[in-house]
Amino acid sequence: MLSVDENEMLTKVDAGTPVGELMRRYWHPVATSQEIKENPVKAVRLLGESLTLFQDRQGRLGLIDQRCAHRRVDLKYGIPENEGLRCPYHGWLYDRTCNVRKTLSTPFIPLMLTDFLGFMLLNDAA
Ligand code: FES
Repeated sequence: MLSVDENEMLTKVDAGTPVGELMRRYWHPVATSQEIKENPVKAVRLLGESLTLFQDRQGRLGLIDQRCAHRRVDLKYGIPENEGLRCPYHGWLYDRTCNVRKTLSTPFIPLMLTDFLGFMLLNDAA
């Protein structure tokens, strides 16, 4: 029988936990292409993280944090554009690698929000 500590070590999948770091080295299905075709923005919950999956108008997929870095608006209401996903509140534009590409008041602000999140891979070390 597992101890409480052993059980927690084997079942926690948040970032920074042993199993969480292991699971981030594998691909995970998060949506079908048909789902994305019908709705290009989708909320995704994966390995303890709340994310937003989107397809930009060039057909590229992105998986970014659920909340806008500016005022925490839920990006599942975001608007797909050629270069990424636009926050519907103040208009920050996120590219598919989680960088803020444009704000409405400045032409370009490179800002790393989180680690790179591939379509279904939560770790850039693979
Ligand atoms: S809340 Fe997203 S740009 Fe302001």
